[in-house]
Amino acid sequence: MAVTNPLTAHDVMRDAPVIPVIVLTDVAHAVPLARALVAGGIRMLEVTLRTPAALACIEAIAREVPDAVAGAGTVRSAHDAQAARKAGARFAVSPGYTQAVGRACRDLRLPLLPGVATGSEIMAASEDGYTELKFFPALQAGGLAMLKAWGGPFFDVRFCPTGGVTPDNAPEFLALSNVACVGGSWLTPADAVAAGDWARITRLAQEAMGLRA
Ligand code: 3PG
Repeated sequence: MAVTNPLTAHDVMRDAPVIPVIVLTDVAHAVPLARALVAGGIRMLEVTLRTPAALACIEAIAREVPDAVAGAGTVRSAHDAQAARKAGARFAVSPGYTQAVGRACRDLRLPLLPGVATGSEIMAASEDGYTELKFFPALQAGGLAMLKAWGGPFFDVRFCPTGGVTPDNAPEFLALSNVACVGGSWLTPADAVAAGDWARITRLAQEAMGLRA
């Protein structure tokens, strides 16, 4: 499937069953990690803004791995969104929702998956035009039962549950009609990244691609 230009949140959520949540501390790991994920079929990469190296990692992936789509995770402010866009991020993911983040991403034309954990947050995000949302932290905030309950009043909203999702429970989430994909950190284990075990990461990505029944 071709990556559309401009990219939409819909494209980001439907490219693969899983969006990897990536934490990188060393910019030297960014390009080989992105190539390993792409080799396994995963192109939408959420690089979290949690480390001093994160923006440089996004920049390196955007520059050197054309088949990957580097996005920024942990976007908590308009400033984060601007810095992510400047580094070359093509989408943003936030752990919660504020109008400031929503507005900044719209101004920057940066597709945003805002994080929500309550009905009020879903209403606030959808009032601002966001109906493709990250459910975070999914397990801790109600998991499958919560998503099923939201399917009634929020019938037109689609979710990417993230937080506590694993290869074992992912199929149950992916089977729900209001779940477009899941997010998780299991594709990029810190020990595999530190050891440069890119083959393991490609294998994890390949397995993740097979998760949707
Ligand atoms: C995140 O950090 O965005 C999520 O908490 C990732 O959750 P996980 O480590 O449980 O996959």
